[in-house]
Amino acid sequence: MLITDQAGFTALNVASIRAQFPSLSQTINGHPAVFLDGPGGTQVPQRVIDAISNYLRRDNANTGGAYATSRNSDAMLADARAAMADFLHCAADEIVFGPNMTTLTYMMSRVIGRDLGRGDEILVTRLDHDANVSPWLALEEKGVTIRWAEINEEYCTLDLEDLASKINPRTKLVAIGYASNAVGTINPVKKIVDLAHAAGALAYVDAVHYGPHGLIDVAALDCDFLVCSTYKFFGPHMGVLFGKREHLQRLRPYKVRPLTDAVPNRWEWGTLNHECIAGITACVDYIADLGRRENSSLRKGGETRGIQSGARSRRAAIVAAFELIHSYEHSLMKRLISGLKKIPSLKIYGITDPSRFDERCPTIAIRVLDQTNDQTPFALATKLGERGFFTWDGNYYALNLTERLDVEKSGGFLRIGLVHYNTMQEIDRLLEALEEILST
Ligand SMILES: Cc1ncc(COP(=O)(O)O)c(C=O)c1O
Repeated sequence: MLITDQAGFTALNVASIRAQFPSLSQTINGHPAVFLDGPGGTQVPQRVIDAISNYLRRDNANTGGAYATSRNSDAMLADARAAMADFLHCAADEIVFGPNMTTLTYMMSRVIGRDLGRGDEILVTRLDHDANVSPWLALEEKGVTIRWAEINEEYCTLDLEDLASKINPRTKLVAIGYASNAVGTINPVKKIVDLAHAAGALAYVDAVHYGPHGLIDVAALDCDFLVCSTYKFFGPHMGVLFGKREHLQRLRPYKVRPLTDAVPNRWEWGTLNHECIAGITACVDYIADLGRRENSSLRKGGETRGIQSGARSRRAAIVAAFELIHSYEHSLMKRLISGLKKIPSLKIYGITDPSRFDERCPTIAIRVLDQTNDQTPFALATKLGERGFFTWDGNYYALNLTERLDVEKSGGFLRIGLVHYNTMQEIDRLLEALEEILST
């Protein structure tokens, strides 16, 4: 299945991509499984499964030992750090591994909070997942004031004027999401980082939801910290934190005494999940190879768009991959949103105007207007699930948003999350299923 864009060149070979993901070929009650649950965690390609099991089969050891498997484990960790450095565009010693984004963020809030107290302020937003809110709210016990940036309800975008008005010389940290895991909005992160820095505050970016959809460039963003989770971009269940080297050196982590004081290891407590970290290199290489394989099709009218055809560096290949992913996901999103708009009983939350699609990810939250008991998000997800469509219902921990939009008590949203292994046919089948469910 080759997808071609308006200019007529091949954009993404979805069939060859899907063939790499063993789980995509499952059936449920005789229906092909349709994975629309990417925002909760994506599927993994065979190479990630192989990397994890090969590590366990061959190199399973702790680090720092004077023997082969331990040395191999050290090398594997260094490779994974280099892979994530390419993925985020930073140095390898600015990459910290942890169990997940939430745990890493609690670690950072506790450590940053050591130096904060009464009179200091932290800004959080109503659009964020609670993992970038509660760890900062916890600092209220030290006397820190938490300020909230509000949203523009109609489009579920951040109210930038409100946000800017709440940053002042007392602000010590601005915690923002790159993209909303509930309604898909992409925030103007660079602008917000600049606002934070102009006031002397740190910028802490939650890129968990953005990770599978768009290129992350911490050097260009100039953010102080950025967190993501590899299980959202085709890898294992792990969290990754980027911290500017100066902060990782300056801040005082809690740690056991024998642990080295070297950066970034002083931030990694206890024994890490080595097998999953082996899978991280494989997932970054999966994305890079996607860019490499399709790279010649980036040529348009004799020019290359952004990167040189046949580029060898992994970062350049990742840049190329996200160009393709972006354009393919946009075509899926257009089809889905225009189909959903034709179902009159549905309300779509967030941006629905195609001319503004660059401000959103293909993560779509819907509800039935005037819903009956068997049309709640949970009821819809259950009925879709029986037909093989995996969607999510509820708040997905974007609690501040569901409360703000007053949908929390009535089941939250039904979330349809697309990634680049989804197809147009899946969207058409989903729309048919939804129409059928809603007409009975
Ligand atoms: C936007 C966002 N931030 C943070 C998290 C928490 O990530 P983790 O499960 O790695 O703690 C999630 C998880 O769904 C998320 O979607």
